[in-house]
Amino acid sequence: MSEHDIIDRVRKHLLVGGRWRASADGSVFGVSDPGTGATLCEVADGQADDAKAAVETAVEAQDEWAATPPRQRGEILRRAWQLMTDRTDELATLMTLEMGKSLTESRAEVAYAADYFRWFSEEAVRIDGNYKRTPDGSARMIVTRQPVGPCLLITPWNFPLAMGTRKIGPAIAAGCTMIVKPAQLTPLSMLALADLLAEAGVPDGVVNVVPSTSASRVVNPVLADPRIRKMSFTGSTEVGRMLVEQCAPNLQRMSMELGGNAAFLVFSDADLDAAVEGAVTAKMRNNGESCVAANRFLVQSSVAEEFTRKLTDRMAELRMGHGTQPDVVVGPLVNEGQRATVSELVEDAVSRGARATTGGEPGGGDGYFYRPTVLADVPDDARILREEVFGPVAPVTTFADEDEALAGANDTEYGLVGYVFTRDLDRAIRVGEGLATGMVGINTGLVSNASAPFGGVKASGFGREGGDEGLAEYLETKYLSLALRS
Ligand code: SIN
Repeated sequence: MSEHDIIDRVRKHLLVGGRWRASADGSVFGVSDPGTGATLCEVADGQADDAKAAVETAVEAQDEWAATPPRQRGEILRRAWQLMTDRTDELATLMTLEMGKSLTESRAEVAYAADYFRWFSEEAVRIDGNYKRTPDGSARMIVTRQPVGPCLLITPWNFPLAMGTRKIGPAIAAGCTMIVKPAQLTPLSMLALADLLAEAGVPDGVVNVVPSTSASRVVNPVLADPRIRKMSFTGSTEVGRMLVEQCAPNLQRMSMELGGNAAFLVFSDADLDAAVEGAVTAKMRNNGESCVAANRFLVQSSVAEEFTRKLTDRMAELRMGHGTQPDVVVGPLVNEGQRATVSELVEDAVSRGARATTGGEPGGGDGYFYRPTVLADVPDDARILREEVFGPVAPVTTFADEDEALAGANDTEYGLVGYVFTRDLDRAIRVGEGLATGMVGINTGLVSNASAPFGGVKASGFGREGGDEGLAEYLETKYLSLALRS
């Protein structure tokens, strides 16, 4: 199918109560291709009244949906996994067009995203409970799990499908209805996904999608409604803090996947070639636009020069271009603002004494390109060591010993993930346990997996997505106390 046909097939409306409809005031907004800056199409611009209508339909559908047999919900998810898998090329092209990442990256994301549906299709039938005697033997306790109720799911632009399926999947498995607010920059992938979910058998009103140019216009009326019982957000720490405040009056349950500042530690006993490959994955997956991207490379002094040289060679050979072109590995950043932030952080580091051993500047075409960059001799006061760069830049610093490595890695307000490369098992465990993060990659640059609990600590948020922990976030524990008459 041509790119034009792929865009054409997407329903560019709001999905409310199973109906695709225009926004309350008929307004639309443009979606553009970061690889060219050109507008791809226009999408209905959700208003507060649309958000309220979505709440009504989600609330109305909740009881019947909660009562469906778990197997039925699991089978819907399994069909959705199959449909996504069958349509990988189409979904990947759509994602590349609106987000920029290369087709290889987009295909990998479709597989990763679909895997959340497969995983939660299997978990839907394993929602457990228990039956116990009270300690004095006079009564019985039945503990069961029920869906939390209608949810608001707010998804980011960097993984337009996977961050959706990892929230929608467990919500469906648990029996929750939902309102999804996709990122303004990348609504098309979510609209295509919603269409596919309807085809897989999701009943009307269970999944509602309201794209909008104003997040607050959608989010405020939804969270102000006490019938909405949960909010899940992936995005910046700054916005996450505001959303936590907004959930306070109605005490809605929250899952917060926020910013990161991942340290990537390389010890002198590491397999250096494996560490370089791990570094390229941890840094360059998704063009570096990921909260789990390695943000700081801390390398033991004795191997720092060799590691930096090898990483520089690998980064320099990565082919940059429009994501739809064959063999392209690095696409454009999502917009000019993102590219300006990356430039600013690199310029700051260089002005303080860092050296770009490759890249160090924008370039590569009409879109928002930034060259894969390695920075050596980065001083401690460089902003790039504190702020999330969200781009293809690898700053390298050094450490003398394990204590210094751990202290440096933990010297950040964030705590999402850390990476350790070493051949010493004792050290791997010590450092893995010592990192103040929710996740650790040991001799790997990739921790993301639908069956694992993804999430952070400190300013990286709370709650987990994926794994059985991801389903628990959409379930309430209920206890029934059963008195015995004799
Ligand atoms: C993110 O960057 O927000 C998520 C990355 C992942 O799931 O691997």
